[in-house]
Amino acid sequence: MATSTAVVPFLDLKAEYAALREEILGALDRVCRNASFVLGPEVQAFETQFAAFCETKHCVALNSGTSALHLGLLALGVQPGDEVITTPNTFLATAEAITYCGANPVFVDIDPATANLNPNLLERAITAKTKVILPVHLYGRPADMTAILEIASRHGLSVLEDACQAHGARHRGRRVGSLGKAAAFSFYPTKNLSAYGEGGAITTNDDRIAQFARAARTHGQTSRYEHEFVGYNYRMDGFQGAVLQIKLKHFAEVDARHKEIAREYRELLAAARLDLPHDDPGDECPYHLFVVYVDRRDDVRRELAARGIETAVHYPRPLHLQPAYAAYGIPRGTLPHAERACDRVLGLPIYLSLDSGQIQYVANTLREIVGTK
Ligand SMILES: Cc1ncc(COP(=O)(O)O)c(C=O)c1O
Repeated sequence: MATSTAVVPFLDLKAEYAALREEILGALDRVCRNASFVLGPEVQAFETQFAAFCETKHCVALNSGTSALHLGLLALGVQPGDEVITTPNTFLATAEAITYCGANPVFVDIDPATANLNPNLLERAITAKTKVILPVHLYGRPADMTAILEIASRHGLSVLEDACQAHGARHRGRRVGSLGKAAAFSFYPTKNLSAYGEGGAITTNDDRIAQFARAARTHGQTSRYEHEFVGYNYRMDGFQGAVLQIKLKHFAEVDARHKEIAREYRELLAAARLDLPHDDPGDECPYHLFVVYVDRRDDVRRELAARGIETAVHYPRPLHLQPAYAAYGIPRGTLPHAERACDRVLGLPIYLSLDSGQIQYVANTLREIVGTK
């Protein structure tokens, strides 16, 4: 597959650094001069800014989105033997966090139009052991939170949002990250809002959850060497706090460009023989990824690569068919929409420095390969 020689790479993080180099180096130097390498003022400043951005009372900065999911579930009281309902069409970390708590993931199939957890299938998956519903805003597209929250409240369940791909998304005018009891974000370098290393955060309006996460991220400490409980080392580095403040300042530009690229792709691919995901007109999708669904996906991908276009597959296998979750013995055919989505999904390049010529080249080449409707 084409990488450095690609006419259109899948992602270009080097171009982003070139544009921000002076600002970034200045901020990293500040961290070094202050020797505030772990948590500290830069992380605190980012927490305040990201909470305001998410329209939540609290943000607790952590070392990854996976840690954010883990602490979020613990804060909601998930214990060994409990069940947490989630989607099979996500990155492994969503289910891993459930497993870390000793709980069991219960996979509910997706709505093929949005690739997100289908709320119409949710209720029948609820049992006496269900504790939390964990929807994922996949590719940045908000899950149907109105329906999910309504079902959760009727059954006395908490909702933790996996917002790891959805910085800046809105559902019915409200920011994702502020909709459930708490939310988990990732700042992995490929995300729309990204660190220069690992990073994550929990957002919440709940004082108790924030307080728990603040202690849990640093060995259960409530004050120096006072350990209320056995916690974790899930702290954010000072460098990441400094970098993330700069990235947040430039986020609106990244967000607008992603939305514009998605609009162009949609227009250019309208007649192509493929399926496009549905955008709810009441929501705002930041397009962390732009995906299409095509038959013979791997062949199409190879043909694109031969013409210098790098693509990616998020994700080739739904979680119930991953070897890591084979012990649950859920056979192929059980969650047919997630399985079909994973067989057909194809991610196209989308990033700030992708220009109109490249967008047209990608879309026109893809249309040539798959044909028109
Ligand atoms: C949907 C989803 N959940 C969880 C994660 C885990 O985040 P991290 O890689 O920061 O641990 C990711 C990121 O890769 C993700 O995309």
